[in-house]
Amino acid sequence: MNIHIIGGGNLGVAIALGIAKYTAGHQVTVTRRNTESIEYLTAKGIVVANNNLHNIEQADLIVLTIKPYQVATVLSEITPFISGKILASAVSGVTIEQLQTVTQNTCSWVRIMPNIAIQFGASATCISFAEKDKAVLQPVVDLFQKLGTAPIIEEKLMDAATVLGACGTAYALRYIRASMQAGIEIGFDSQTALAIAAQTAKGAAQMLLEEKIHPEQLIDRVTTPQGCTIVGLNEMEHQGFSSSLIKGIKTSLNKIKE
Ligand SMILES: NC(=O)c1ccc[n+]([C@@H]2O[C@H](COP(=O)([O-])OP(=O)(O)OC[C@H]3O[C@@H](n4cnc5c(N)ncnc54)[C@H](OP(=O)(O)O)[C@@H]3O)[C@@H](O)[C@H]2O)c1
Repeated sequence: MNIHIIGGGNLGVAIALGIAKYTAGHQVTVTRRNTESIEYLTAKGIVVANNNLHNIEQADLIVLTIKPYQVATVLSEITPFISGKILASAVSGVTIEQLQTVTQNTCSWVRIMPNIAIQFGASATCISFAEKDKAVLQPVVDLFQKLGTAPIIEEKLMDAATVLGACGTAYALRYIRASMQAGIEIGFDSQTALAIAAQTAKGAAQMLLEEKIHPEQLIDRVTTPQGCTIVGLNEMEHQGFSSSLIKGIKTSLNKIKE
């Protein structure tokens, strides 16, 4: 496919790099107004342009990775050139119906909610589309499945997907940072503490994904009766560990819905 990414910021660049590294046979173009900071992408075979219409006629898939308040401007610019094309929007809070209306029902829309680990082929990209477009949008689903996991969800869950899957990257990183800080307090230098904390989190996630079991079943394998793991875990729960995470996720969701 010819893939045209509009909005070469954090997410747009991560998608472009992920496609370039983990898939084959795609030509990627990334656009933004000020391209200086992303010119390095050309060395990886990615086309960089400061004009959203650059080669847009050749695009098979157009991906929007701009902020919500930039959508109207960008769509008014590209709508005359995208009839019959497939568009994927990663923009939070803008519905397929709204996107269809602005583009005068001339193209097929899919909403995607990736996270920046897409750069490493490790995103959880939630995908949503209208049932009537299922067949035509299959190549988009196939593409994002190559870049991590790509569950198809109901569109009404897109805000929740934003929080759990996209904001979730920050929550997971904060967990790792806290573990690192504790690691320093109990004797490690910061680099060693970070390496241990990050790999331990990655290993725990990998076991869950590969064994497809509930986290508590794995926790049971690590906790000896009256041992040091269970006393630490229980102290974390007494201090509100799970509760604070759940409250934080719900607060993020409320903010999105404002
Ligand atoms: N970051 C994430 O982890 C993440 C995850 C999931 C979804 N999202 C969603 O993805 C979208 C982008 O997020 P982000 O974090 O990547 O934001 P960002 O880093 O600010 O990137 C937005 C990019 O859009 C470009 N842009 C602005 N106006 C434009 C225009 N008229 N034409 C072309 N490009 C234009 C900006 O560059 P110039 O100013 O140079 O044009 C900027 O590079 C948001 O809607 C966000 O909700 C983000």
